[in-house]
Amino acid sequence: MIRDLIVSNRSYRRFHQEAAIDEQTLRELVDLARLSASGHNVQPLKYILSCNPEKNALIFPLLGWAGYLRDWPGPSEGERPAAYIVVLQDTEIRRDIGIDHGIAAQSILLGAREKGLGGCIIATIKKDALRSGLSIPTRYEILIVLALGKPKEKVVIDPVGPDGDIKYWRDSEGVHHVPKRALEDIIVR
Ligand SMILES: Cc1cc2nc3c(=O)[nH]c(=O)nc-3n(C[C@H](O)[C@H](O)[C@H](O)COP(=O)(O)O)c2cc1C
Repeated sequence: MIRDLIVSNRSYRRFHQEAAIDEQTLRELVDLARLSASGHNVQPLKYILSCNPEKNALIFPLLGWAGYLRDWPGPSEGERPAAYIVVLQDTEIRRDIGIDHGIAAQSILLGAREKGLGGCIIATIKKDALRSGLSIPTRYEILIVLALGKPKEKVVIDPVGPDGDIKYWRDSEGVHHVPKRALEDIIVR
């Protein structure tokens, strides 16, 4: 089951924007992050939830989408995320950035997948604009944004070819292809 969930947990970037996600759903997802591992169990992560059109519209243009898809500026109106979770580090709890946010992101995205949703980790963020737009106090470091929605695209995993190219690409049918290295190529003997 966990393998199926992980295989289906691709980075989704096009959504049924009209399929709203309510705040309770976002709270359930953050609760999965809350229960996840944290270095020294310090738990420095805090979260901003967004699931209303006005707040979503503020966040969307501050995010960078699919850098390898050079001709694609990101999801068009109608295919944009229905919700976002902004992952913050409370620097009054811990100053240096660990890996807690990666673990939290995976917990949230797997939980979203289980609910029939999907999403994408976004680290390309206009952080100053997001900070002022959402009035985020300086004690919080902006780490990543999780874009969430009901996926509207097919994403498949391909083996990395002989040329070793790991760049994802989109075919003429709009299917998003993600090359993954073979198991034997990542285990060091
Ligand atoms: C730390 C991290 C940062 C990422 N930042 C972005 C981003 O800014 N924009 C984006 O479109 N995707 C971003 N992604 C998604 C990756 O592009 C994606 O994970 C990768 O292409 C592999 O696809 P998969 O998630 O379906 O396996 C990020 C992923 C990670 C783990």
